[in-house]
Amino acid sequence: MQRYVILGLICGITASILKLATPAATGFIFDYVLGTSTVPAFVTHIGIPSAPEQLLVVVAIGVVVVSVLAVAISTIGRYFNQVAVLRLQAGIRNRLFRHALRLPLNRLHLATSGGVTSLLRHDASSSGGLLSSLVFNPLASITQLVGTIVVLLFIDARMLLGPLVLAPLMFLCHHYWVDRIRPYWHDLHATRTVTDSGATETFGGIRVVRSFGRETTEARRFLLTQNLEIRRHLMAWWGSIVVEVGWALLIPISVAALLWYGAARVLADAAGVTAGTLGPADALTAGDLVMFLFYLAMLLEPMATIARSGTEAQRGLAGLERVLAVLDLPRDHPPSTGQQTVNPDQVKGRIALQDVSFQYPDTSSPVIRKVSFEIEAAEIVALVGRSGAGKSTLCDLIARLLAPTSGVIRLDGTDISKIDVGSYRNLVSIVEQDVFLFDGTIADNIAYGRRDASMEEIVQAADAAQVSEFVHRQPNGFETVIGERGVHLSGGQRQRLAIARALLADPRILIMDEATSDLDGEGERLIQESLRSLMKGRTVLVIAHRLSTVASADRIVMLDHGQIVETGTPEELWNNSKHFQTVMQMQLLDSNDVGIEELV
Ligand SMILES: Nc1ncnc2c1ncn2[C@@H]1O[C@H](COP(=O)(O)OP(=O)(O)O)[C@@H](O)[C@H]1O
Ligand SMILES: [Mg+2]
Repeated sequence: MQRYVILGLICGITASILKLATPAATGFIFDYVLGTSTVPAFVTHIGIPSAPEQLLVVVAIGVVVVSVLAVAISTIGRYFNQVAVLRLQAGIRNRLFRHALRLPLNRLHLATSGGVTSLLRHDASSSGGLLSSLVFNPLASITQLVGTIVVLLFIDARMLLGPLVLAPLMFLCHHYWVDRIRPYWHDLHATRTVTDSGATETFGGIRVVRSFGRETTEARRFLLTQNLEIRRHLMAWWGSIVVEVGWALLIPISVAALLWYGAARVLADAAGVTAGTLGPADALTAGDLVMFLFYLAMLLEPMATIARSGTEAQRGLAGLERVLAVLDLPRDHPPSTGQQTVNPDQVKGRIALQDVSFQYPDTSSPVIRKVSFEIEAAEIVALVGRSGAGKSTLCDLIARLLAPTSGVIRLDGTDISKIDVGSYRNLVSIVEQDVFLFDGTIADNIAYGRRDASMEEIVQAADAAQVSEFVHRQPNGFETVIGERGVHLSGGQRQRLAIARALLADPRILIMDEATSDLDGEGERLIQESLRSLMKGRTVLVIAHRLSTVASADRIVMLDHGQIVETGTPEELWNNSKHFQTVMQMQLLDSNDVGIEELV
């Protein structure tokens, strides 16, 4: 990318220098072709004929050649510039995407998926555009500015006075005005994020929207945020346009001033020459004045460009600030040195929690309070408790999707925060109630955790999870594409797919968070066998409100308000704990489950 930036700059600067030639040629024609001055010695010296008609032809051709060259070089420069900007934008997007992927989950809850998309699109794009508005355009303009000033110095330094007054004016304008535009762009981008995430959310939940007949409300909400966006965009636009209008007015005013002063001087000098008080070489000629006018335009043009770049840069800077704010968020478990990796074959799978507490950053009280318990290797522990007791949070802690606020979680005696996150997560699989299916084939979705799995392994896992039965009913079998979020699969089918996914990943530690809740009694009986084989030999933490699942656990841990209230075998709790009976009976009411007496 650096190569493109440098090439773009070289081309831009060269083109700006070449552009300086046209006004010089115009002045030349006025003085030496139309006027009476004798052609300078260097012209005849390099073999250019000094007859006015021939000189005219040479100058005209010269102007055309130089201008074509300038346009060609500046176009090539703009191409390099464009490539550099696009690559920079893509680079920023990649950084942002990779960083957002590793942000702690509770941070991502704040940034909705649509919000992340908006940040990736608009903010990354406008920050990439800074390369144009802060580097390319100003540098080309400054070259033109400096070149023009140098040429003007040779003609008449006094006339530079006017343009030079403009420079501090420009500085003051930037200092006091342009910087104020940025907050408006900031607001606009924030509104855009709201609009985008709202739209993503609406279509993500389109079934709910339809079933509650909320289309009009959602459309109105979209319209409102759009209107807000327009208002904010106009605010930012006004801030920028004031600067542009200022410069647009400045150009004709300066031209008028120059004409007034310059023409008066041409007349006075002509009178002086006739009277003999002024030498012809010192007099300001009409050619000088015309050339001067051209240069004045060339002086003001880059100034206006710099001013416009300044206002454009405010937009880019606003985007950049938002991008940096996300990049500044600390990553989930930053990769520090010396973290040990674990070999799955040597892991026994004993999990021990010691005084583990956890509080979500945006809540006032801890959700998990000083929880201590152990899961032996290859033991099946069922986590039971009312909804909101903190079961899912505890699972996330063990899976290291969240880090405890205090306390330690150990795997085979090693603090898991000392273990490399990637290698730890390879040991763990979570099967949740809400199964996320990616756009892709059934086979892709089963193999999501293990890209290297062979087709046979996939089929085997599918067989064990009772997925094959419905896969074979699909026209393309395992190659059937399941749409976004797998819309055309039933809840039970999706859960079986998730179980197949976990089976294939072959984890040492298996976490099932209400993983079978969408299966009906029949469906669960069907996969009971595969569930047993899935759990066999692994450390399992299972959350279920189905008595059959709870009863087949080795041990039950009862959670209430983030604390362990009771532990024991299923029989012990059923016989001795009123609390357990209440919770279980409550859940029994809404399921056609078998009584525990049949099971224990
Ligand atoms: N991302 C979150 N931010 C803040 N609070 C949360 C978040 N997720 C869950 N909670 C709160 O934590 C408590 C426990 O939630 P959870 O672990 O999901 O319970 P369970 O799985 O037992 O139903 C609830 O009171 C819930 O409101
Ligand atoms: Mg839960």
